[in-house]
Amino acid sequence: MSGGPDIYHEMIVDYSRNPINYGEIENHDVTFHDSNPLCGDSIDIDMKIDDNKVTDIKFHGKGCAICMACTSVLTEITKGKSLDDVRKIEKNDVLSELGLEHLQAVRIKCALLSLKVLKSALYTYLGSNLDDKTGIDTLKTDAENLY
Ligand code: FES
Repeated sequence: MSGGPDIYHEMIVDYSRNPINYGEIENHDVTFHDSNPLCGDSIDIDMKIDDNKVTDIKFHGKGCAICMACTSVLTEITKGKSLDDVRKIEKNDVLSELGLEHLQAVRIKCALLSLKVLKSALYTYLGSNLDDKTGIDTLKTDAENLY
């Protein structure tokens, strides 16, 4: 996606006012919660998983405009992907959608809280559903070292 800073600013404001995929999935296959200790904002992500694909994803909680916008974008990126592809989602996949690649360190936790929650949710799901757990610890490490 391309656009100037004003377009990105508008997108962030818009997503924060009208978040996409906001809500809960009652019969989710996995859910995870985490918060930003600096501000207390918190995000829960619920996922429905069928045949190793994320068939539905929703989030709820509260966060600043950057947090809500990035979570909206992340859920859109994730929906419909295979679990293998979800594993490969990186921080720049989210940040670049909103022109936030050069975000100040102090705001990076706002932008990446939901990615941390997503990776932790995936780790939790794979940990309880896979017979062969080879390699899933890298997901946990990814989540812990995002910022
Ligand atoms: Fe709380 Fe950004 S200020 S997540």
